[in-house]
Amino acid sequence: MSPFQLTRTLPEHATDAALRADVLQGLGRTPKMLPPKWFYDARGSDLFEEITRLPEYYPTRAEREILLARAPEIAAATGARTLIELGSGSSEKTRHLLDALPELESYVPVDVSESALTGAAEGLLAERPGLRIHALIADFTTGLTLPESPGPRLVAFLGGTVGNLLPAERAVFLSSVRALLAPGDALLLGTDLVKDESVLVRAYDDAAGVTAAFNKNVLSVVNRELGGDFDPADFDHVALWNRECERIEMRLRARRALNVKITDLDLLVRFEAGEEVRTEVSAKFRQDGVRAELADAGMALTHWWTDEAGRFALSLATAV
Ligand code: AVJ
Repeated sequence: MSPFQLTRTLPEHATDAALRADVLQGLGRTPKMLPPKWFYDARGSDLFEEITRLPEYYPTRAEREILLARAPEIAAATGARTLIELGSGSSEKTRHLLDALPELESYVPVDVSESALTGAAEGLLAERPGLRIHALIADFTTGLTLPESPGPRLVAFLGGTVGNLLPAERAVFLSSVRALLAPGDALLLGTDLVKDESVLVRAYDDAAGVTAAFNKNVLSVVNRELGGDFDPADFDHVALWNRECERIEMRLRARRALNVKITDLDLLVRFEAGEEVRTEVSAKFRQDGVRAELADAGMALTHWWTDEAGRFALSLATAV
């Protein structure tokens, strides 16, 4: 049996249909919005990698610090023989975890990007020849069927990406994760934490303008995939702290009144001067909130680790 297997649970054209539906719905309503998952074409994924290296964007470094410091505790607490990573991307941060999990036999990276999955698997196989890798092309927000793999299982959802979901979506998502867990399995969850507004806003509005380019990239995705005629230069990047909801919101603000044509959807979209499209929310958390959301989904928080500066947290939870 090959140590690497790739399973597609998404129909080949599922993403096209989902993008069409999201753009039709999101730009046809007031206020306008587009889901953040459409940032991540090849260029968007490169821009995100660049963001993770920016001086202002601390979450990636903070999470890596925690993973490096706590990997032995995570290994001891879970005894994981299978690691399932949701939204694995380049699997870069997983390496620290893999290195520290001596019992690990099986790694199941789950991502919508086939190229990210195969690229990451090649590197890992070279380093860990004994490891079985069963990559899944899947959208983890819409329910997952996992391959047979030995327990205990550790499901990891890192990077703070859970913050891109709205509270009601998080409840659904966490319940679906809970449904994957047998007794003795665990969830490792990365969450960015509430902190000083200026630190947060700078992380999403960097001086070099990389996040602005990342935000505007969604317009290029719509242009290419759906025959849109957005000019990214017609929009300003906006990052603001929504104090009430404790989340960063990214928006694109029209610099003037505009009509945008989206040929493949037969759609004409009108923007008034100053009108915004919300492109991402990135919720920031507190320990009590994380514990409560996990409990509502049928899980108990067993460990809470932060970086030295207290900016980011990793939670470990088990099924109750
Ligand atoms: C990859 C979803 C965790 O919300 O911080 C980075 C994406 N957006 N800069 C985040 C992102 C703007 C990032 N996540």
